[in-house]
Amino acid sequence: MNHKENIQRFQYLMNTVQREGKYELMRYISEKTDFYFAPASTNFHLACEGGLLQHSLNVYNCLVSKKNIAIWKKVFDGMSDESLIIMSLLHDLCKANFYIKSYKNQKTYDSNKIAAAQKRDIKHDELGDYLWETVERYQINDDDQIPLGHGEKSCLIIQGFMKLRMNEVMAIRWHMGFSEDKSQYYAIGSAMEKYPIVLALYEADLEASKLLEDVFGSKEI
Ligand SMILES: [Fe+2]
Repeated sequence: MNHKENIQRFQYLMNTVQREGKYELMRYISEKTDFYFAPASTNFHLACEGGLLQHSLNVYNCLVSKKNIAIWKKVFDGMSDESLIIMSLLHDLCKANFYIKSYKNQKTYDSNKIAAAQKRDIKHDELGDYLWETVERYQINDDDQIPLGHGEKSCLIIQGFMKLRMNEVMAIRWHMGFSEDKSQYYAIGSAMEKYPIVLALYEADLEASKLLEDVFGSKEI
């Protein structure tokens, strides 16, 4: 899907959520943040414009695909569609207004660029001829306006507009699973036992970022 379709899908899914404060939250997202245009990361997955939105939709797709798997049946049976939408689409809201564009110099071995370059600009190393080029990249904004962490930051931003249920708080807070600091492992394990949807969202996040997404693109499922 292209970027415009991704925005439409995100808005369509969020429009199905019937909860007080949802419109204020949506207005905040579209008017006060760069959520629709931000990358999903600086280097790892979907480090490109619109990456965060694409990643959020990918996590939604991965999460709802678990509904039909026998082992998850009990967990998803009691789960409303709107909870799944909220957890997946908003889990990384903490990344809105979090990255800025900057520039870096890097080597390029592109033969077309080398053929078109001035001889004095062509260098050589063990990999062959190269040029230095300046490329755009994303980096974390050192001046984060809401420095509250990651999953906890998403929860707190959402709760500023719309009340979350406890299982949604758990899933969003712990969606990084065992990538969190070791000191949190006990709480994460306990949250997963009490609210197995925590594990489902953690898995869906990993499936999206590791199986569907690379630095600049995403596969469709
Ligand atoms: Fe994520």
